Amino acid sequence: MTYRFRDLLALEPLSADELIFLLDQSRPFQAIQRNPLKKLATLRGKTVALAFFENSTRTRISFGTAASRLGADTMNLQAESSSLKKGESLLDTVHTLNAMKPDCLVMRHAASGAADFVARHLDIPVINAGDGTHEHPSQGLLDALTIRDRKGSLANLHVTILGDIAHSRVARSNIHLLSKFGCRFTLCGPAMWVPRELESIGPPGASIRRVFRIEEALEDADVVLVLRVQTERLHEPALPARDYILLYQLSAERLRLAKSDAIILHPGPMNRGVEITPEVADGPQSCVLEQVTNGIAVRMALLFLLLVGGSEEEAHPAAEMQEPGERPSTDAKKDPSHAAR
Ligand code: NCD
Repeated sequence: MTYRFRDLLALEPLSADELIFLLDQSRPFQAIQRNPLKKLATLRGKTVALAFFENSTRTRISFGTAASRLGADTMNLQAESSSLKKGESLLDTVHTLNAMKPDCLVMRHAASGAADFVARHLDIPVINAGDGTHEHPSQGLLDALTIRDRKGSLANLHVTILGDIAHSRVARSNIHLLSKFGCRFTLCGPAMWVPRELESIGPPGASIRRVFRIEEALEDADVVLVLRVQTERLHEPALPARDYILLYQLSAERLRLAKSDAIILHPGPMNRGVEITPEVADGPQSCVLEQVTNGIAVRMALLFLLLVGGSEEEAHPAAEMQEPGERPSTDAKKDPSHAAR
C-alpha cells in the first residue's frame, strides 16, 4: 500500500492505516540512530526551511538533525532576529523564504491554524511543528512510536494525561492519534485546564473522561503523559505553584497507583519539581530520552515521505544501513519484500 502526503498539518484527518504507515516508515530510521555513521544521502541537494516563529529547542534541533542525517541542507529563520520584529506579515515572510527555493517548510507558530494557512499559499510541502493550541503532529507520532516500542502495540491502552490539557497541542495530537487504536483517555488537572469540551475532541465514540483527583486518574493507567506546566500560568490567587504540586505533581508514590508496567511520557521541556519529581523523570518507567531519540527517526521519515515519497513495497532508504537481525517487527502485516536489498 502506498500513501502520499502533500503536507503534514495535523493527525486528526489521518486514518489508522496512514498512521501505522508513518510509524512503520520511521522504524528503519530508529536503527540508524544507533549506528556510528548516521548520515544518508537520500535528500542530498534538497533544502529544508525551518521557520520557528515561536521558541523551540528540541523540535527545531530535531528537525534540523533529521534533515542533515538525510543529507539535506537547512535554512533557518530565527524569529527573534528576523524581519517579523520589523512588522513583516507571516505570508510575506514565508513567500520570501519560498523565493529562496527550499523543497519543504517546517514551521512553528503561536497561532492555531497558521501552518494550514501557509500551506494553502505555498506549492512546497509544509510540516506543522506546532501551531498554537491546535496540533503538534510529529510529537504525536514520536510519542506513539515510543509507546508502541515499549508496549508492543497501541491497541486499547488506558492513557492518562496530566496538566494543562486545554492549552496543549501535544495532548490533542496524542488524543487524535491514539483514539484511532481504541485507546481510552483520562484527563486530569485543575478544572480550568480540563474544560468539558475536551470530552468531545476525539472521533465519535472515543472514550475521554475528566477526573480531578490525580489518584483516581492514575488508577489502571498504561501510559501517563505529563504535560509541561507553564509556570507563568501558575499564580496567586487562582493556582499557586505549591497547590499544583500538592494536588497534581506526578510522584513515585502516586505512580504506584498506575499499572506496574505503566510508562511515563513528557514532551519537554520538563519543570522538575513542578509537574514531575526528579525521581519519576529519571526512573525506569520514564521514556523521556527515548522520545527525544525517536523524534529524529519520525522527522526523518516525514521529510523523506514528503520530499521523495516511499511505499511499503519499495526498499526503505535506511534498509542498507541495518543489520538483518535488527529488522524490527511491526503491527502491520509483514511483507517479505521488505527484506534487506
Ligand atoms: C511542546 C511544544 O512546544 O508544543 N514541546 C515540544 O515540542 N517538545 C510542549 C511544551 O512546550 O509544553
